[in-house]
Amino acid sequence: MSPTSLLKNRAALTHKIGYAVRNPARIAPYVKRTARDTWLRLKHPDHVDYYRAVMASDTGRNPEAAVGSRTHERWLALGEMQFDYLREHGLRPGHRMLDIGCGNLRAGWRFIAHLDRGNYYGIDISPDILISAKRTLTTYELQDKLPHLTLTHDLRLDFLPAAHFDVVHAHSVFSHSPIEVIDECLAHVGRIMAPGGFFDFTFDRTEGAEHQVLREDFYYRTETLLRLARRHGLEARFMEDWETRRHGQSKIRVNNPAASG
Ligand SMILES: C[S@@+](CC[C@H](N)C(=O)[O-])C[C@H]1O[C@@H](n2cnc3c(N)ncnc32)[C@H](O)[C@@H]1O
Repeated sequence: MSPTSLLKNRAALTHKIGYAVRNPARIAPYVKRTARDTWLRLKHPDHVDYYRAVMASDTGRNPEAAVGSRTHERWLALGEMQFDYLREHGLRPGHRMLDIGCGNLRAGWRFIAHLDRGNYYGIDISPDILISAKRTLTTYELQDKLPHLTLTHDLRLDFLPAAHFDVVHAHSVFSHSPIEVIDECLAHVGRIMAPGGFFDFTFDRTEGAEHQVLREDFYYRTETLLRLARRHGLEARFMEDWETRRHGQSKIRVNNPAASG
């Protein structure tokens, strides 16, 4: 990521005007999206309810675009990038994995294919994207792998067993989450992590002022998220090797020292 993009404040009026001048074709779609999101926010004051409605609207148009991929090639490439990274970091078939905000299994189908039967657990707040996830499962003929796909509203993870998951993963989820949602997840994720397990999450990084756009995209400083994780008794570090992957987001890895034994 370039130092200039790390300092950008996309919520600032000057940024918006400059962007509009450089990309006039994007003005109309942006105005439409702003109007839709304003209406959805009025209807759903709770963030998760609001974002679920955003996902319903986006998924209705195009499920692959709803998880952030403009083309099918990009959808495939983004899934492959996530899978390759975790495999290089030791993801083995016998591992048990929790994929938070699994979407329509852009990466999930590759994890499911790689892991032993029943070892993949995907959760998401959006029923619409989970229906699309089932379609992905069928397309790749992975029914026999019996993955778990579960709808959730919060990230307390209280319906999952303690010390169970070797790998917990949240890709492009905290980039759409206010700090309270991230805090809730970090407060509870340690309980379900197996000894030696880790939790990887991506986030939209800023080195300037933290900000959000339309309550859809949230930009955090690395230090804010590291501090939050540590406050919950977790170890947390910035993953430098992810930065070479040419993905717009950065990655943090969390361990639970209390679970290592
Ligand atoms: C950009 S998509 C990424 C999907 C998937 N991780 C991937 O990389 O293909 C973000 C997903 O996270 C889900 N999501 C957003 N906030 C969530 C939350 N608080 N808990 C669980 N899922 C959430 C959305 O419904 C959406 O499916």
